[in-house]
Amino acid sequence: MKCGVIARVLLAAAVGVLPVLAGASEPAAAAVDGQRMRRANEEPGQWMSYGRTWDEQRFSPLKQINDRNAGELGLAWYADLNTYRGVQATPLLIDGVLYNVSVWNVVTAYDARNGKVLWTYDPKVDSEWARLACCGPSSRGIAAWKGKIYIGALDGRLIAVDARNGRELWSVQTFDRRHAYSITGAPRVFDGKVVIGNGGADYGVRGFVTAYDAETGKKVWRFYLVPGNPADGPDGEASDSVMPMAAKTWTGEWWKYGGGGTAWDSIVYDPKLKLVYIGTGNGSPHVQHFRSPGGGDNLFLCSIVAVHAETGKYAWHYQMVPNEQWDFTCTQPMILADLKIGGRTRQVLMQAPKNGFFYVLDRKTGELISAKTYVPNLWATHIDMKTGRPVVNPDAYVTEKPFLMTPTWMAAHSWHPMSYSPLTGLVYWPAQEQWSVYSRVADKDFRFVPFRSNSGNSFTSYPEERVRLQKIADSREKGYLLAWDPVHQKEAFRIPYPYPGSGGVLTTAGNLLVQGTINKTLAVYRADNGEKLWEMDTQTVAIAGPMTYEVDGEQYIAANFGWGGSPVHGLTAGPQPVQFGPARLMAFKLGAKGVSLPPMPPPAAIPAPPPLRATEDQVRRGRKIFGDTCSRCHGENAVGGLKDLRFMTRETHAQFRDIVLGGIRKDKGMAGFADLLTPDDAEAVHAYLIARANEDYLDARAAPPPAGAH
Ligand code: HEC
Repeated sequence: MKCGVIARVLLAAAVGVLPVLAGASEPAAAAVDGQRMRRANEEPGQWMSYGRTWDEQRFSPLKQINDRNAGELGLAWYADLNTYRGVQATPLLIDGVLYNVSVWNVVTAYDARNGKVLWTYDPKVDSEWARLACCGPSSRGIAAWKGKIYIGALDGRLIAVDARNGRELWSVQTFDRRHAYSITGAPRVFDGKVVIGNGGADYGVRGFVTAYDAETGKKVWRFYLVPGNPADGPDGEASDSVMPMAAKTWTGEWWKYGGGGTAWDSIVYDPKLKLVYIGTGNGSPHVQHFRSPGGGDNLFLCSIVAVHAETGKYAWHYQMVPNEQWDFTCTQPMILADLKIGGRTRQVLMQAPKNGFFYVLDRKTGELISAKTYVPNLWATHIDMKTGRPVVNPDAYVTEKPFLMTPTWMAAHSWHPMSYSPLTGLVYWPAQEQWSVYSRVADKDFRFVPFRSNSGNSFTSYPEERVRLQKIADSREKGYLLAWDPVHQKEAFRIPYPYPGSGGVLTTAGNLLVQGTINKTLAVYRADNGEKLWEMDTQTVAIAGPMTYEVDGEQYIAANFGWGGSPVHGLTAGPQPVQFGPARLMAFKLGAKGVSLPPMPPPAAIPAPPPLRATEDQVRRGRKIFGDTCSRCHGENAVGGLKDLRFMTRETHAQFRDIVLGGIRKDKGMAGFADLLTPDDAEAVHAYLIARANEDYLDARAAPPPAGAH
């Protein structure tokens, strides 16, 4: 941690932009409170909360940069984030200071005018924990309240640091570390409480959300999102009153597998109704047949659950995906707005979850107002407006026989921030058409191993059929920025991209629609019709949400650029992986000149793989282990992923066992698997990878780079 004198001197240099607390000798920092948040639109230059305002519209009233002058944008400053991984955070801007969080929850405060570092705080997260985060040790954001910055650390700590210098003030462990939970979502603060959820439904946990006193870190309430073992009696928590009702929708012994329903991203506060809306995740394990063998809705998987902010007591719920078994989550961003629908103004909550439907709910009661699919949809034909339930395609239920599905676990839309512009009346988000092969393992093959991905899905049965279907799936991938009319539930326009995987969006009163694109650019479009106004090469993709702020009378647009996480598969699936620059925080303003990114390093050559000496049996066994344990980070069929293992160097091959069992790359996010794999298993996986490398190596040398890559 760099703090103390230097930080204070630097911060004092920024005093011109900081208000001074009456009677205090030190300048106030992150002086965010209920009054400021309620009047956030009177301070258009600030970005004091994850989605800017409590309604999380990600719409900024700033208009110095607008549809007439956006062509004059340039890079004002950038800061290296010391990683090549995905960086998912939206920074905060409070009174001239930009607070940002990079991988491993390292938080840095910058002078927002020039990127000068004021302080850095490193919570020293145990890198072992990355194994439990599907998509890297990333964080989507931090929160600020009355002089403190709140960090939800990957390993479960909720940490408050002093916004003036990054000094740790308190830290609480929010979950039991004997279970495979993790935190990647941004904490949210409202009226003296900080709320935080967690992830881990892929590894066998029971989801919950906890509110802590923002001042002291003392627990205020907790709400469980799925029932525990009814034989254990009530939890003694705020959710107790509804757990018996939820338990009636489950069968079998789900609690042994956690059940899931984790709230790993979106939690939104409504200051008028004093409700907190929680978006919940998928079932654990994924396949309902193993989790709740008699079926049932399995409340509150893939739902919006509204609880009273003061007490955490249940208010209402709306379940989008009963019988969840597709790894569908409803943790996606939620936007609150007042919309005129059918002649009257409705207080609505809007969400575009993984299942491909765009929902408009009455946020007071949870009543479904409307829902419409925004992508081709094999899951459900429509939502029955009488019952509010989806009409699920009978062929979509997961069986042992592989079948093609869309949308998929990769999501029609995931956590990537969406935006609502009250000026255009449109909602914008990165939509994608992802196809995938679904099937479950045979009953005799289902084994639950804590701390391992326990989907119950099969990735290896019927291999020929699977390869055939996967080819079709790959050929149908699409990604676009969608502009959607939420009142009439119809597309306004779309901006197509060559692949899925573009980033979150921002809109402004300057008629701007801003997005980091899969083409490794930052693009600015007109929000009313999608016409492109400006675009700049950024060497890597900003998957995170861009934000905007004003300091000293100048408006900036800023975003974290850093590519990684599960959608990597699509883009790196070509024979030659696409190259990305290192992760950076970048800020842009009108007329900026003289700052440019250093050139990209030359692409690495593809080494020749070692010859295959293993038996067919060993390769087959290796394929199975790879599918169970490695593919979620290293890609299906060992293609793409965080690191494409077809392209291991000779040195890496030699170190294979030390990496996979010994954990020698632990500090880079590749923890050892000695607790799950025997040396024989590791050898079998190695054999499989060598076989895959040999299969593709010659083709790769002959083929041109994938279309659209550059
Ligand atoms: C949670 C994600 C995750 C899982 C699961 C995972 N890995 Fe990794 N692995 C990584 C990351 C991240 C790296 C890159 C580390 C680096 O930059 O050196 C990596 C690197 C490697 C490397 C070094 C590759 C190279 O070319 O340098 C090998 C070998 C490897 N992993 C094997 C495996 C095997 C085998 C499994 C399954 C038993 C597995 N990994 C599961 C995240 C994962």
